[in-house]
This record gives sequence, C-alpha cells and structure tokens, in this order.
Amino acid sequence: MSKNPVVAVVGATGAVGREMLKILEQRNFPASEVLALASSRSAGTRISFREGELKVQELGEDSFKGVDLAIFSAGGSISEKYAPVAVKSGCVVVDNSNAWRMDENVPLVVPEVNPEALEKHKGIIANPNCSTIQMVVVLKPLHDAGTIKRVIVSTYQAVSGSGQKAVEELESQVKALFSMQEVEPKVYPYQIAFNCLPHIDVFLENDYTKEEMKMVNETKKIMGDENIRVTATTVRVPVFYGHSESVNVETQKKITPREARAILSQAPGIKVLDNPLEKVYPMPLFAAGEDETFVGRIREDETIANGLNMWIVADNIRKGAALNAVQISELLVERNLLRVT
Ligand code: A2P
Repeated sequence: MSKNPVVAVVGATGAVGREMLKILEQRNFPASEVLALASSRSAGTRISFREGELKVQELGEDSFKGVDLAIFSAGGSISEKYAPVAVKSGCVVVDNSNAWRMDENVPLVVPEVNPEALEKHKGIIANPNCSTIQMVVVLKPLHDAGTIKRVIVSTYQAVSGSGQKAVEELESQVKALFSMQEVEPKVYPYQIAFNCLPHIDVFLENDYTKEEMKMVNETKKIMGDENIRVTATTVRVPVFYGHSESVNVETQKKITPREARAILSQAPGIKVLDNPLEKVYPMPLFAAGEDETFVGRIREDETIANGLNMWIVADNIRKGAALNAVQISELLVERNLLRVT
C-alpha cells in the first residue's frame, strides 16, 4: 500500500476506543484519515484528536467503504456482525472482542509473543483477552528458557475492563457509601465498591467462568503449545485501572528467581520491579497509564522442584486492549499486511 491507510475505530466513544484514539495519536500512527464509529446514541458527538476533532458517525453496513483498517472495540455481537462486512469491503480488522479469538482462521496476536502469526491472516486478527495478554508477555521468555508445564493464575481485575459504565458505577458507589446512601448495582451482580467478585463473564458447565477459560485456551493458542496446562481464578476488584495477577509457573528445566529476573529484564515489553526490601513491586496504582507489563515478587515455589511465583501488573486498557491492538496495526503496516486475501 503506497498511501497511508484510512483507519476506523469502532466503539470510539468507549473506554478502550477512546484510549485507542489517544494511542494512535501518541504513537503517531501513519493514518491518512481516522474515523470514529459508535452507536446512534453518540453519533454527532465530537472527540478531540490530533489538532482537531473527530465527529462520531453511526456504525452501519456502509461504514467501511474506503477504509483500509478497522479496529473494533464495541463488544462481541457488533464484531460478529460487522467484522465480516468490513472484510468484504476490503478492510483488515483488528478485533478486541471475544468473537473471533478461537477461530482457527484468525490469528490471536501479542506482538512480543507471536508476531509471525499475523502473516497468515485472512482479514480478521484478534486481540486477546486483557488478563491473557499481560500474562503471556511474561510467560513467553520463561517458556523459551525452561519450557512451562503448568500455570496457576489468580487475577485481580480492574473495573475498566467492563467498560466506561463500570468505571462510573464504582465511582458512584464509593461516593454513595460515604454519604450513607444505598447502592444499586447495575453493571455487576453485587456492589463492587469495597468488595471482590469471583465472577467475571458468565459461568460455564465446568463451573469455571468464561473469563477463566479464555485464559486457559488463549494462552495455548498464543504460545503455540497445547501442552501448557493453565488453571485460572478470575476476580473483579474495586480498582479503576490496572489488572494484577498472582502467577505460579512450573517448568521442565529449573529457572532460579535470579535467572528469571535476568531473562525478564531482557525481554520486550517487560519491566522488572523486584526489590521487596525497598518496597519495590508492581501495583496498579503505578501501572495505570503505562505501556509496559510489570513483574515482581519473583520467588521460588518451595513446594515443587521447578516452580516460580510472581506478581504481574499491567494497564488493562492500554497493554490489555488498546495498545496491543495498535501494536498489531503497526506491524500490519510495517510488514505490508494490510490486504485481504
Ligand atoms: P456508544 O457510546 O454510542 O454506546 P464500553 O466498552 O466502554 O462500554 O464502550 C462500548 C463502545 O461500543 C462504545 O463506543 C459504544 O458506543 C459502542 N457500541 C455499543 N453498541 C453499539 C452499536 N450497536 N453500534 C455501534 N457501536 C456500539
């Protein structure tokens, strides 16, 4: 493609969509034009972008004419319906929803882990689940060094992962509770302020939640290794931005904590923050607004021969969603892959 691509952001008014526009601007993404698409509810509103403003347009069947790249973050049903429409009109789709991730014709990509998977795209590329992205960024270099056999992960996930309405719900519940008022949960089944919900997405027949099974299945697909066993417990916590994860890894070959720190310090997209005696460890408070995946509290699992425990934190809206999608888009441009076969 000789000219810079025309880019559409679908779901531009949402928590992730707004961040995407910010990141496209911050990273000076080579777009000749950027379109902001959303529902009829916000059509006509304006979002500031670069030196000017974008007028939000209502998403429809004709929205993708002349568009080269569409980045979707408007929920699974919108992606299911409109991603094929976009591809049909010659547009490459990077999709942040769950709709296409496990489709065998759709690459599921974290640029630090499996950029080569992009080469085989057929029009749609899926952006993985937020909690999976930050975990595999750290798992990949350890897997290369010592072959991971099993992962046990528990997550502490911020409300922004459920969208803008959830951010507002936590904010309003905190205010209401301090004023001795009743709270009425809308986004979540229970009050989220001063609470933890061991329930993200729906429960499945095996008693796990869909979010937990996303971590299990997406990890194998991104890492390209069906033998990695993953078991997950995912929990929503009253944090606005930044997912945290307690991750236990069992490897075939022993990796000491010192070796792990050295390996991870050299790996792309990672910042090791691991000096507990100086109170240095990752926290969502500091990860919010940042691009790196932070890892610390790296220590030996003394109950098995080859095990490590660690604590991984990243901004779920940036690396967990918008930034990863923009990084994929940058690779598509760099590798001349903005074409539909
Ligand atoms: P809108 O603001 O018009 O409702 P979040 O995940 O933060 O809730 O954001 C969801 C995004 O998806 C918003 O930009 C929202 O637009 C958009 N969206 C939701 N439903 C539709 C729809 N039917 N068509 C187009 N965009 C939609």
